[in-house]
Parts: sequence; C-alpha cells; structure tokens
Amino acid sequence: MVFQILPSLLAADYGSLADEIRRAEASGADALHIDIMDAHFVPNLSFGPDIVALCRRVAPGFFRHVHLMLTRPDLYLEPFAAAGAQTIQIHVEADCDLHAELPRIRALGLRAAIALNPETPAEAVFPYLGLCDEVLVMTVHPGYGGQSFIPDCLPKISLIRRRAPDIDIMVDGGINDKTAILAAKAGANQLVAGSYLFKQSDMAAAVAALRKDGAAAFNSP
Ligand code: DX5
Ligand code: ZN
Repeated sequence: MVFQILPSLLAADYGSLADEIRRAEASGADALHIDIMDAHFVPNLSFGPDIVALCRRVAPGFFRHVHLMLTRPDLYLEPFAAAGAQTIQIHVEADCDLHAELPRIRALGLRAAIALNPETPAEAVFPYLGLCDEVLVMTVHPGYGGQSFIPDCLPKISLIRRRAPDIDIMVDGGINDKTAILAAKAGANQLVAGSYLFKQSDMAAAVAALRKDGAAAFNSP
C-alpha cells in the first residue's frame, strides 16, 4: 500500500502563499491538504475555492485533497471541484445524506473521502466504506492547526483498517515525528502534517523522514 505525506496549507505563511505552495511541492510531499472551514461546523474560518484554484495555478501537478469542515458540504461540491479539488473529504457528522453525496463526488470525477471527528466511533463510517476511496481520521478537534494529537483515536484507526484492509486511511491533527509512528502502526497510510512541516527550515528532509519511519511502522507486524 502506498504511504503518503501531505502538508496542510493551513500552517503556511499566508504572506507568501504561492511560495509556500511551491515549497510544499518541492519538499517531495505526495499531495497538498487544504482545510476549508465555515465557522459553523468548526469555530473558525479558513479558505474558499479561490485558494484551491491558486494551488492549481501555482503547482498544477501537486495533487489537491480538500477537507470540507462544513455543516453543508453538499452545497459546495461543484465549486470546489471546479476550482481543482481532486479528493473531496466530507464529515460523517455533517448535515447531509452521505449515501447521496459520496457518489456525487465520484460522479464529478474526484476521489471521495469520509472524515470523522475524535469523539465519533469507527462504526459511524462502516455503512459508507463501499462508497469512498479514503477515510480521514481526525486526531484533534477540527478547527485549528497546532493542537496536540489525541492518542485515544488510535484504536479507531485499527478498527477501520481491519474492516477495510485496502482503503486509504489518512490521519489529520498533531502529527509529528513521534505521533506519525503511532498512527502508522495503527494502520494509517496517509499522514497530514501542518505546523510540524511548515515550521521546518528543510521541509524535504522532514517529509523524507516521516515517509521512511511511517512506512516502516505501517509495514511492521
Ligand atoms: C484541523 C485541520 C488540520 C490541521 C492540522 O482542523 O483539519 O488539517 O491543519 O494541523 P497540525 O498538523 O498543525 O495539527
Ligand atoms: Zn484537515
């Protein structure tokens, strides 16, 4: 299974956003994680479709995962698809019918993913596993970067991995060189890291180390 590292743009220096997008791409990271917040589903606001379009313009070949932390993600699938999203991640806690919306994401030609908050049990995503390409397990309460990893989420990763051995499982929140290993051991093969990667003076070295150590932990019995 492919093991991937994704910098989260939320932690970039917004004063030089285009350079930060290029720095993330040049680091050798596999894809970019772009956090969209509505100040309703989470207590914060972040980016809209224009920032996704900026990412596509600045780094067309750098794959774009769009994490919709929105109460009504169903109202924004088309604008984000048109702006260049390549995976759209919607929350199981959102106020919409996932049985309808996950197929709609795929019908737009994108990868579909389902995300779940720390307090949501693994079983909540089981009915949708056949409709998505990826599960995003939040390991912080969504809304802000720079929070501490919640280790209580680890058993949930293992439960989902056992239930869906071939699905991509992404973790998001508080990932650093230590927590990356815990998440990968539990069964995650995609790691999002925001503040940890963007604060590095040598992002490429940090990405390579996370990928090497994470992949080893993922593949260890
Ligand atoms: C949190 C976001 C995360 C955030 C992670 O609501 O979904 O993607 O950027 O940031 P770090 O890695 O700093 O915890
Ligand atoms: Zn995120």
